[in-house]
Amino acid sequence: MVSDELLEEIRAQADLTQIVGEYVQLRRSGRTFRGPCPLHGGEGPNFSVDPERGIFKCFVCGEGGDVFSFPMKLLGLDFIEAVKFVAERVGIVVPDIEKEEEDPYRDIREAVAFAADWFEKQLWEEKHGERARRYLLVDRELSEQAARRFGFGYAPDSWRGLRDAAGVLDISDDVLMRAGLIKASERAKEPFDVFRGRLMIPIYNLRSRPIGFGGRLLADAEDAPKYINSPDTPIFHKGRIVYGLNWSRHSIRRHEVFYVVEGFMDLISLLAAEVENVVAPLGTALTEHQARLLGRYAKRALLLYDSDRAGLTATFKAADELLRAGVHPSVATLPPGEDPDSIVRKGGSQALAQHTDAAIDVLDRKIQILEGRGYLDTIEGKRRAVDGLMLTVRAAADEALRDIYLDRVATVTGVRRSTLERELRRPVGGLRRPKAPAPETEEPVPAGPKLGAERKLLLLLLRDRSLLPRVAEQVEPGNFRTPEYREIYDALIAAAETTPPGQSGEGNELSWAEGLAPAIYERVREIIADPEELTNPEAVLEDAIARLRARALEKRLADLMTEVIVADTGAAVELATEIKKLRQELAALGSRLPGRGLFRGE
Ligand code: UTP
Ligand code: MN
Repeated sequence: MVSDELLEEIRAQADLTQIVGEYVQLRRSGRTFRGPCPLHGGEGPNFSVDPERGIFKCFVCGEGGDVFSFPMKLLGLDFIEAVKFVAERVGIVVPDIEKEEEDPYRDIREAVAFAADWFEKQLWEEKHGERARRYLLVDRELSEQAARRFGFGYAPDSWRGLRDAAGVLDISDDVLMRAGLIKASERAKEPFDVFRGRLMIPIYNLRSRPIGFGGRLLADAEDAPKYINSPDTPIFHKGRIVYGLNWSRHSIRRHEVFYVVEGFMDLISLLAAEVENVVAPLGTALTEHQARLLGRYAKRALLLYDSDRAGLTATFKAADELLRAGVHPSVATLPPGEDPDSIVRKGGSQALAQHTDAAIDVLDRKIQILEGRGYLDTIEGKRRAVDGLMLTVRAAADEALRDIYLDRVATVTGVRRSTLERELRRPVGGLRRPKAPAPETEEPVPAGPKLGAERKLLLLLLRDRSLLPRVAEQVEPGNFRTPEYREIYDALIAAAETTPPGQSGEGNELSWAEGLAPAIYERVREIIADPEELTNPEAVLEDAIARLRARALEKRLADLMTEVIVADTGAAVELATEIKKLRQELAALGSRLPGRGLFRGE
């Protein structure tokens, strides 16, 4: 009843460390994560999770298995229930053969599918699709066959074309709104189409069903963004979807390497030219979730971004994210002004191959840039180069690679390896960790979406909403890494803004959460029902706040340290000032929690 494809999609999207992390605290230990066994209730770190292979094992009770057997063993679910349990956490709905209407997002899926068809029809429509067709087939040199393969469409330049067409089929405004296809505005009496006058590119899930869209202007204009994407919806999460993976995943497995390009059109041109192992993030920086997802398909990546400053910065950030996911990235340098699409269109896949063959390891590319900018010629320059290079070293989850990187950095900067190793043991901010004699391998779960602190903070807030103003002053929604938790926090804040204090009445204390998606609402109930006793709530609260803030600052700091490498001199000075400020803020945060191991996970 659950297709193999669907199972594979759920398995690929699921994050075993996150799911196990809901029950016990895990810490990274080399390639795996360790913690107490939730199955036999042990206390020592005998339970091991291997996120890359998606399996777990307890060395004491001997239980082991994959992401589906974990909830089966822990909660006594049958297989189908376990699949649903996991699917819910990754936002996938498992249809019931008999009760298909149970898919809570079915209406949204259908609306998106309808829109994809409708847009496509507009494109091939004799008259008003003419301009868009010319753009696609002539200006962008795509064949009609390719245009149909990728599902291209056209959103006419009218305010309510799609909405009216959907109305004929009784698709309601509410559903269109939740599908991200129309929006309301104070200035308009009626909701209107989100996409107008754009070439439409459907974005597919792994089962090749449309879940959202990218829309491109037909002519570059100054006052409108070239591309807009569907907003996040219950079935479309930009940070989790990788564009093109539905077509490329088999090829990626076969080639054991994937190419990452920046844009839709790059990907489409490459696929059309039979370069098939390619993916694109969706208009944003490559996220941790995307990196992990890709890491399940191959352990090597080749980044094919623009060679301008913005492209280089994006390259290094994406590379660090991939390294954290255990993937080894190399970087191809494209001629100025070119992107994979333009290269393939001019010279075919052979032209691209020249650049991919010349790709070099990402750390070497960083060194090349630093050398080119004279960083390695001065003492102060070298000091900064070390910071920038160590970001990449630190990101490497693969220990052997990290070791090789350390040697390389020691050689080019002349800093002793032992000094670099010490540096590595400190957090990005360069703060000394509060004395913690734990072994070196036990680093905080670096990017594990579930970091305890987020959940604890929510637990406290849900138990006592009067804490919210104090927390909200210090923690922004963006400080939450787990999307579900961020949404819950957002909703709490939104409710506090509309309800005067003191009126969060008992009896309907969950009313604020009613607008949340069902899966998220369930999360709220589950957190509230969590029997965890917090012995010193005040300390836990302070600790959780500081952790969330420190994490956000560290992330920002890492970004700045990447940007400074590729910045021109003027901008570099400004960035350096900001870096200094951030370091001070982090130091202040660290001293707020003396001895509590601020940067060590929990
Ligand atoms: P680029 O600006 O490099 O464009 O954006 P491109 O891919 O070469 O696009 P074409 O060839 O001019 O059509 C790269 C990607 O960044 C996102 C899109 O996903 C785009 O594919 N982007 C770009 C946006 O989300 N919004 C924008 O306004 C521009
Ligand atoms: Mn382009």
